[in-house]
Amino acid sequence: MSLISPWRADFPGIQAFDAEGQTYLDSAATAQKPQAMLDSLLGYYASGAANVHRAQHLPGERATRAFEDSRTQAARWLNAAGSEEILFTRGSTESLNLLAYGLEHLLQPGDEIVISALEHHANLLPWQQLALRGGLKLVVLPLDASGQIDLQQAAVLIGPRTRVLAVAQLSNVLGRWQPVRELIALAQGHGALSVIDGAQGVVHGRHDVQALGCDFYVCSSHKLYGPDGVGLLYGRRAALAQLRHWQFGGEMMLDADYQQARFRPAPLGFEAGTPAISSVIALGATLDYLLHLDAAAVAGHEAALHAKLLAGLAVRDGVRRLGEPQVALASFTVAEVHSADLAHLLSEQGIAVRAGHHCAMPLLKSLGLPGAIRVSLGLYNDGADLERFFSALDKALELLR
Ligand SMILES: Cc1ncc(COP(=O)(O)O)c(C=O)c1O
Repeated sequence: MSLISPWRADFPGIQAFDAEGQTYLDSAATAQKPQAMLDSLLGYYASGAANVHRAQHLPGERATRAFEDSRTQAARWLNAAGSEEILFTRGSTESLNLLAYGLEHLLQPGDEIVISALEHHANLLPWQQLALRGGLKLVVLPLDASGQIDLQQAAVLIGPRTRVLAVAQLSNVLGRWQPVRELIALAQGHGALSVIDGAQGVVHGRHDVQALGCDFYVCSSHKLYGPDGVGLLYGRRAALAQLRHWQFGGEMMLDADYQQARFRPAPLGFEAGTPAISSVIALGATLDYLLHLDAAAVAGHEAALHAKLLAGLAVRDGVRRLGEPQVALASFTVAEVHSADLAHLLSEQGIAVRAGHHCAMPLLKSLGLPGAIRVSLGLYNDGADLERFFSALDKALELLR
């Protein structure tokens, strides 16, 4: 099967890579951008930049309208109950740090924060540091052999002392969907707040935060084919109301004196200072592009690429896949070969894959691995990309063995 992507031509970055002889297989780290996103970014500056939420002049009003339209578009993308439930941040990492700080005042020594064994450092370190500061216990949910959080163990470990559950929707290393609905229900049963790290999950298919039932959901624009420097923090209205304000400055206050101030509620109360205006607007254009794609065709294409990737890995001697991935992503090691050496030889042949601990060092340590190679695909990848990867892999392994 040739596995041609009908969307490849929409991505100038991929065409530039083609011209350069680069095969990009690292979309889970950051994705390439559609022309619609580039047009929006340039259009904002070319038609005259202006700050948002401050000015009475026409350019300011225009920028504010476009900025708020993006918020509406993001609310639509996640099916939030309203655009006021969407906060713009710098990315998933900032959203999670905001939450770990914003919820601190609700926690007492001895309370428990529950994460899982597969978390990215972005969803581990903010909670770990909060636990260390406040005398809290960080509980780590174990995984089963497929790379999924073990629900039986979770039912035991999520308990009356649990105040916050923070887990990834989709593992960036194992590529496996996590049973987040069931975990959220367990947390709710004990009155705990739930935080879903959707940095990887949001890229594959559509997700409905209301149907998930989570209190908070975070993601990054740059992995979702949008610009970098911007991310989303969804919060259920009642959950957002519990957050402590965190950054202070322009446009987040209602009233200020020298000695005290009153602050706006979400979203603007959590967006102090001038935001990444052009990026937010360009994220809206990206979501617009994605919303107009045939979702079933994208899912079908990604599934076909995924099958080809797994089949190619399965027939190669000594290749050991990590877990059982369910999206177009696979991490693997090769017996007696260091992943950094392999990535280097792949790179010399124009193949861009990720090697290392994938910002999930405790997970890699628990698997007894110093690192692994990860191949991750976007909707613009095609069968020929994978064929180039496999032929480069064979050459590299021949050299290394
Ligand atoms: C599962 C997961 N969570 C969080 C992050 C952090 O995202 P960002 O670096 O965009 O803040 C990543 C990035 O790779 C990720 O894969």
